[in-house]
Amino acid sequence: MSEKNQRETLASRLGFILLSAGCAIGLGNVWRFPYITGKYGGAAFVVMYLIFLVIFGLPIMVMEFSVGRASKRSVAGSFQALEPAGTKWHWYSYFAIAGNYLLMMFYTTVAGWMMAYFYFTLTGELQGLSTAEVGDFFNKTLANPAEMLYWMVITVAIGFTICSFGLREGVEKATKFMMSGLFIIMLILVFRSVTLPGAGEGLKFYLMPDFKNMVGNGFGEAVYAAMGQAFFTLSLGIGAMAIFGSYIGRDRSLTGETLNILGLDTAVALLAGLIIFPACAAFGVDAGAGPGLIFVTLPNVFNSMIGGRLWGSLFFIFMTFAAMTTVVAVFENITAYSMESFKLSRKKAVKINVLLVTLLSIPCALGFSVFSKFAPLGAGSTVLDLEDFLVSNTLLPLGSLVYLFFCCSKKGWGWDNFIEEADAGNGIKFPRNRVFRIYVSYVIPVIVLAIFVMGYWEKIKLIFS
Ligand code: TRP
Repeated sequence: MSEKNQRETLASRLGFILLSAGCAIGLGNVWRFPYITGKYGGAAFVVMYLIFLVIFGLPIMVMEFSVGRASKRSVAGSFQALEPAGTKWHWYSYFAIAGNYLLMMFYTTVAGWMMAYFYFTLTGELQGLSTAEVGDFFNKTLANPAEMLYWMVITVAIGFTICSFGLREGVEKATKFMMSGLFIIMLILVFRSVTLPGAGEGLKFYLMPDFKNMVGNGFGEAVYAAMGQAFFTLSLGIGAMAIFGSYIGRDRSLTGETLNILGLDTAVALLAGLIIFPACAAFGVDAGAGPGLIFVTLPNVFNSMIGGRLWGSLFFIFMTFAAMTTVVAVFENITAYSMESFKLSRKKAVKINVLLVTLLSIPCALGFSVFSKFAPLGAGSTVLDLEDFLVSNTLLPLGSLVYLFFCCSKKGWGWDNFIEEADAGNGIKFPRNRVFRIYVSYVIPVIVLAIFVMGYWEKIKLIFS
């Protein structure tokens, strides 16, 4: 049997949408989006983020899916399969693969926090603590190396166990299960949060743009962060979405599918903000608190609710699900290209990567204890910040441009091939007119690069100041 015949495919269209949405919807929505929005001034930042999602995210996601679907390969082989003979696009594969590992190097730690908080809420460990004590509890948890390692290892083990069962039986089934229910719990929690006494200030901060708020950290840095967040939440730039394109047939246009996924992803991010900011205002927690934001706000909300332990546990189990669908999706990508590149069986690829990802995740897990003196991005920063910065603010925007040039340039796969693939099947087509083509081929890269250079510059100034 040829390699092509052996390649697994997804069982259903719903499976594809939920898997891609499951990859997109994750810590980026429920953890990173709220804390970054808090840090960069609230509603004005949200507006910019939404604009970036549509003007950059949408076309680039269509491109990733197209490259995946046309090549029927993971990112390890997709450029090689489509590039004109003699070109070097496939060099990017190595960066993309490294990017997937680098992403998981901190993602597994934060996913572990979610799981840990599920456990703590379920067992009532946070009950009766004051607002300040809830904050201390979080810091103490992070500073405990054994505990951090424990939850990280569990995350890696569960994720790869699901992958080991195969694409349909493991990844697709588990993701469908975990994704369903997420919305209902979120809606209930939104309702609880916005009806808290004192929620109004938080809603104002979150929903009424005040561009003055953004200037506090440097306007350029805020724009840069909004762009990084847009790429991050959609999982763009390192072939993480492309893999799912490689598992589907040509019966649906890719622009239509992308709109579904973008809509789901954005809805979950916005709902997460609606839960968190009113709660911050109601309990006097600083919305700019950084990565600990949801772990220091939400336990307070649950403490104040009747049946808070139950709701809290449900909330964190669903947050865990959001994170785990992403972990599973990226592990699937890692598993798939290990299988492809080294001709391994799925089981063997999983075994090797369990070890590799666990080892690679250790620096971040210990970044708050053993390695806490290491502050790569200036005072108070951690391994997590460095890894996140390298992925979100470096690899993703630049990698997205690689996909873009590959699809738009004659020297790459080329516009005609791209459009033909994107538009195959029923549903909304990718705009083909000249103006749009010029926009995609020239305007997007210029803006992305400009923001990139400006953001890097401000970051470097900050580190050395
Ligand atoms: N989008 C995911 C989230 O919001 C994170 C993620 C998964 C990702 N795969 C990615 C980000 C690839 C960038 C690239 O949590």
